[in-house]
Amino acid sequence: MREILVTSALPYANGYIHLGHLVEYIQTDIWVRAMKAQGHQVTYVCADDAHGTAIMLKAEANGVTPEEQIASVKASHEADFAKFLVNFDNYHSTHSEENKHFSELIYRRLNSAGHISTKDVEQLFDPEKKLFLADRFVKGECPECGALDQYGDNCEVCGTTYDATELKNPHSTLSDATPVLKTSKHYFFDLPEFEQFLKDWTRSDNRLQTSVANKLQEWFDAGLTSWDISRDAPYFGFQIPDTPSDEPDKYFYVWLDAPVGYMASFKSLCDKREGTEQALDFDRYWAQENENKTEVYHFIGKDIVYFHALFWPAMLAGSELRTPTGVFAHGFLMVNGEKMSKSRGTFIKAETYAEHLHPEYLRYYFASKLSDKVEDINLDLEDFMQKVNSDLVGKVVNIASRSAGFLVKKYDGMLSDVCVESELLEDITKTGDEIAVAYENREFSRAMRLIMQCADKANEYIDGKKPWSLAKQEGTEQEVQDVCSVAINIFRQLMVYLAPVLPELTDNAKGFLNVDDLSFASRNEWLLGHKINKFKPLMQRIEAKDIEAMIEDSKASLAQADAPAVSDNSKPAVKDKAQTTDVDTEQADYIGIEDFAKVEMKVAHVLECNHVEGADKLLQFTLDVGEDKPRNVFSGIRKFYEPEQLVDKKVICVTNLAPRKMKFGISEGMVLSTGEPKTGLTVVTLPDACVVGDVLA
Ligand code: 2FM
Ligand code: ZN
Repeated sequence: MREILVTSALPYANGYIHLGHLVEYIQTDIWVRAMKAQGHQVTYVCADDAHGTAIMLKAEANGVTPEEQIASVKASHEADFAKFLVNFDNYHSTHSEENKHFSELIYRRLNSAGHISTKDVEQLFDPEKKLFLADRFVKGECPECGALDQYGDNCEVCGTTYDATELKNPHSTLSDATPVLKTSKHYFFDLPEFEQFLKDWTRSDNRLQTSVANKLQEWFDAGLTSWDISRDAPYFGFQIPDTPSDEPDKYFYVWLDAPVGYMASFKSLCDKREGTEQALDFDRYWAQENENKTEVYHFIGKDIVYFHALFWPAMLAGSELRTPTGVFAHGFLMVNGEKMSKSRGTFIKAETYAEHLHPEYLRYYFASKLSDKVEDINLDLEDFMQKVNSDLVGKVVNIASRSAGFLVKKYDGMLSDVCVESELLEDITKTGDEIAVAYENREFSRAMRLIMQCADKANEYIDGKKPWSLAKQEGTEQEVQDVCSVAINIFRQLMVYLAPVLPELTDNAKGFLNVDDLSFASRNEWLLGHKINKFKPLMQRIEAKDIEAMIEDSKASLAQADAPAVSDNSKPAVKDKAQTTDVDTEQADYIGIEDFAKVEMKVAHVLECNHVEGADKLLQFTLDVGEDKPRNVFSGIRKFYEPEQLVDKKVICVTNLAPRKMKFGISEGMVLSTGEPKTGLTVVTLPDACVVGDVLA
């Protein structure tokens, strides 16, 4: 028996759980249940991620204390997880005594081993709110192209990334005050010291998926930098211990104590179970010397790989604790082929879904889509309805419903004493070995396919034997009982295979089958001379109207100013922006063809091109795009062109971009270029034969 500790990422305590979150909790829960069903001792813990500026401000906006805020969000998260049958052994909070203890322990060990240093950092400070401004709380003009109202990390107009201190005319989004530059001392964790350790760690023992390990290699190539782990007051979090008493208090950055929350939740469980039969030994899972005795796995989204595959193992190794056995990343959820959208009603809260549809439908659909890859998965609502109705209701439940009636009515629920199709049953029992492996390897879509193939075999068998016709004939009583008994035995095996995905349905099936064990091993025991109970429908079909109602409700509920649990990430300690891109570069965030079709690009003739006084990055174009009046367009390419080089050229103009008010006038479109604003841009020019005003398609 293996001893395994499993975690899912900790959701932020400032908003609700939505279907995007549920991909991970459902994936992890299925894995945990499958491993438990195979006889391993598995412990699944999680917690709310309760610290940080975002949570502090959310509490302030709600007029409550941060403690009240996180308590109410935790209760709502736990209720949502319970609805979706996500069965944590413990659900804790990072704002807990255990977490304070382990965060301080890790910090002190890192500090005494010389892995912590301090440095003065100059940052924008809101003089009214009296706090340092994270990038997301400051807006201003892009230092490259002058676009107004851009966030402190990158420009949505020209795509340039920069530091918040480079923004022109910045203002705080919290108070509207003009931020001032202020210096304060920050504490840094020396990540580069762990470079060799991390290179070995990320490449050994199959700890990471290949695409994740490859992404990490890019980060190593770009160079690791020290990680800023401190924040100044006011901050909702733990105070950093042992700082000089004559200096202002410092707090751990939320991402320092968040993963420590995995340990804290586990410790809280160890304490709860102390002295019981299920007692757990904390050190057996976390002491370095026990690393090979137990296994620790973290399930996470692809956006937080950096924290889990670099910072976290380095922190653990540096404080002489064990590192995870594996980190499993998954992709994002798309709905109907597109990013979840509030206006389309596809940004669906867990709670809203559960008001309209059974959570097990979603568990099955996600299982049928999930693999061990870091791929985005698509919830196509039409396909969702078809698949659940055809696989679960039409194939699986149907096996029981079409056989149970005869057995209960004519044979008092008794199954035959012998199995007349042992080969078929053995075949399905054997497939169970492959299904078990698929579960363990997180190849859930393969497991679901194998299970449905078994269901198909059962239905083909029943269709061939036609018990409903046999039942009308004389002298076939035994045959009817035998055929239906085979069907019920296969149904029991399918319940074993589906139990990790459909715990409620399979639990109800236990009552009908009159069995109390659906562990993987139980598939080897056939039900012979066994009495079953009356069949009650185990699952209803999904109706299109329920999906429509859920979408409408989502639109309505999200119109209110409520927020999903949001990120408190700051830029990772890396040198180039390649490191902030998705892990799986082949799986970019897709847009649908409808979105692409919305962009109107036209052939434009450059009538005039000029410098802009006071803007050393911009050129001003007067473009003929085949309309009554020429258009005025600014473009951040001055560094790369003299205006006369572009006059009279045919270029591509995006003509339906919302006009943007800039300091120097209104920009009525965008001229397309290739390259990077930092290193060089080339305006895309078209052959003279192209006709002005023609649409590019
Ligand atoms: O990205 C997030 O939602 C974080 N709250 C995840 C934290 S996981 C762990 F490190 F705590
Ligand atoms: Zn810009």
